[in-house]
Amino acid sequence: MEAVGSLSAMKALARDRRRSGLTIGLVPTMGCLHEGHLSLVRESKARADVTVVSVFVNPAQFGPNEDFRRYPRDLAKDTAVLERAGADALFHPSAAEVYPPGYRTYAEVTGLQDRLCGRSRPGHFRGVVTVVLKLFEIVRPDLAFFGAKDAQQALIVRRMAADLDLDVEIVTCPIVREPDGLALSSRNAYLGPEERKAALALSTGLRWAERAVAAGERDAARLAAGVRAVLEAEPLARIDYVEAVDPETLEPVAEVRGEVLLALAAFIGPTRLIDNVRLRA
Ligand code: PAJ
Repeated sequence: MEAVGSLSAMKALARDRRRSGLTIGLVPTMGCLHEGHLSLVRESKARADVTVVSVFVNPAQFGPNEDFRRYPRDLAKDTAVLERAGADALFHPSAAEVYPPGYRTYAEVTGLQDRLCGRSRPGHFRGVVTVVLKLFEIVRPDLAFFGAKDAQQALIVRRMAADLDLDVEIVTCPIVREPDGLALSSRNAYLGPEERKAALALSTGLRWAERAVAAGERDAARLAAGVRAVLEAEPLARIDYVEAVDPETLEPVAEVRGEVLLALAAFIGPTRLIDNVRLRA
């Protein structure tokens, strides 16, 4: 595996592979890699000739009071993990090179960026879209891989690629969970033992909703209320949002018809976690 830190080296490597007629898959990450990330790497290896994984804790997508400074970083470990997973290149640019002094340009996906997580994290998706667009321009991948755990992010990136006529196929991969149901997340590393137990309320709530739909429930408000009740029964949990929305527009829906995205965010102690499930009538 080649590890490249500079934008020019990454561009040169990608250009060389393209000229050899190889397709490139890009897996953008913020590092602290876990099985969720590795599922994207495996999918890229299956579908592209060359797999590039970027590890970049993107300052532009963190709010002023968020966890940018203490976000877990371990490049040595990530390098070893990617080496073992068979990634072809690790791209780890510096913030100083991605956002040099005088940096002024940002991309936005209007409307979609303001819903769900966007409401409590203003500017977050602007930062995500900007860095993803920059990564696409640097690497020029044929395929790019995103996890369904960040359903709104995957939708927004897909919209951006379509709207800007980008020659990249956006692939969304299923959520990887711990055996007990907790969705894998780099932020799970923040959880103490009691919080780790409490965090199970997120997936437990969503599983309850899946069962309710299977049993015939179609009312979105009742489904959301049921999920809220599961979270409210957990003293360490504080709900940010629980919403049943159209998976394409993210507009709230009244009932489960076709496919509905049931998405939630909750604080477990100081740690904000997200999870979601697709409900089908
Ligand atoms: P990060 O949180 O590191 O996640 C990188 C990718 O891994 C995202 O596409 C995310 O959806 C996926 N992922 C995380 N946990 C997962 C899980 N349990 N199952 C499946 N996929 C999972 O998301 C970001 O970084 C950043 O916003 C980024 C896109 C890199 C832009 O900075």
